[in-house]
Amino acid sequence: MASNGFMARKPIASILESAEGGQRQLAKTLGAFSITSMGIGAIIGAGIFVLTGTAAAQYAGPGIILSFILAGVACAFVGLCYSELAAMIPVCGSTYTYTYATLGELFAWIIGWDLILEYAMGAATVAVGWSGYVVSLLHNVGVHIPPQLAAAPATVVKLADGTTVEGVVNLPAILIVAVLTLMLIFGTRESARVNNIMVTIKVIVVIAFIALGVFFIKEANWHPFIPKNSGEFGKFGWSGILRGSAVVFFAFIGFDAVSTAAQEAKRPQRDMPIGILGSLVICTLLYIAVAGVLTGLVPYTELDVPDPIAKGVDAIGVTWFSILIKLGALTGLTTVILVLLYGQSRIFFAMARDGLLPGVFARVHPRLRTPYLSQLMIGTIVAIVAAFTPINVLGEMVSIGTLFAFVLVCGAVLYLRRSDPHVARPFRAPGSPAIPLLGVLFCLLLMAGLPLVTWGRLIVWLVIGLAIYFVYGRHHSTLRQVTA
Ligand code: ALA
Repeated sequence: MASNGFMARKPIASILESAEGGQRQLAKTLGAFSITSMGIGAIIGAGIFVLTGTAAAQYAGPGIILSFILAGVACAFVGLCYSELAAMIPVCGSTYTYTYATLGELFAWIIGWDLILEYAMGAATVAVGWSGYVVSLLHNVGVHIPPQLAAAPATVVKLADGTTVEGVVNLPAILIVAVLTLMLIFGTRESARVNNIMVTIKVIVVIAFIALGVFFIKEANWHPFIPKNSGEFGKFGWSGILRGSAVVFFAFIGFDAVSTAAQEAKRPQRDMPIGILGSLVICTLLYIAVAGVLTGLVPYTELDVPDPIAKGVDAIGVTWFSILIKLGALTGLTTVILVLLYGQSRIFFAMARDGLLPGVFARVHPRLRTPYLSQLMIGTIVAIVAAFTPINVLGEMVSIGTLFAFVLVCGAVLYLRRSDPHVARPFRAPGSPAIPLLGVLFCLLLMAGLPLVTWGRLIVWLVIGLAIYFVYGRHHSTLRQVTA
């Protein structure tokens, strides 16, 4: 133990040992297929179904394909680092647990607090996207939800007659969060089963879009491939590719959610790297293809709509497929929310077990074997945030929070290689230290692509977290009690 201050590290042996206790509680039900499926479930969502169009129209043009490649490369470096840590420390808690073993308790708390942005706020963001798609789909079948009841206050909704109304509450977003929270309380295995079916549907829909759309591409839409910079940083040109990358990075978030399930994996040493890298590779290839087809079908200037993929289908001219795409998008968004809500409860589980959060977050239902109370509280807060918060700000907060977590994960790999060289590593990120270092640099590069105001918000969020740590966590930490 390095010290009993808040720089105290949790030795890896003790993390693995205390996980034995946890393993007696959480059921080990997930195999490689379910885990990969869980990864894809968390990855393909609002990013590809909504943000691709916005990012192409506002920042990168057809060059959005390059933005996806850049974000994919960054995530590949991070994914390799995650795989090493998840196979080496197969306990729930994700980055939080890894940081506890490397940079110590204070940093672990900061990262756990930061991950709320990725998981809980991410789930809220995607729930609002879900609401948008369901309203649009219901509209297609003649059911009209009053726009005031499907948007947050201060969100201005444009009506068909050109007038505008302000949102009051986002009811569909509350509904989806409530249903998924109940499912997760009911049981992990059941949720994983439903997840597998929904993931299959959304992957089929995405592949169908690529396979059908490729025959209708108009090459002229790809020229100019990188539109000239408008004179402002981030508006087209190479800086636009970077800004586009930082925005579509949201589409990759989720591959790391796989690591929160390590403790429920049947064979984590083998299944974790397969799940993380497998889902990441599959999604990156699909994204590049979707971005290429979409910008080939529709001029990028017309893609700034809430349902750009459906617009791409309209360009093909097959109307029924448009409805199918919306259904596929809804399914896709559902699985993302499901996995993010699940991941958040498992991170809180680890933090509560360490005493940094109240014990209620680690209480497991004796029969259902899920952290039901924690899941219920998370669901309630996420539903409230989704109901009353405009999401444009949230989306960027989610990205910067996640990138920050990724920087620490790559740093943790570098640190542990030196501090604990003899601990068994069933999977090793190749080319260390180059790969983890590149991971850090690429994530910082993407963070640099986000506006200054987003950086400011991240700092405010972290300061609030620090205040909570000094008022609560530091006095209740089990590690500090053991070492005192
Ligand atoms: N990657 C997830 C999405 O795009 C968060 O919705």
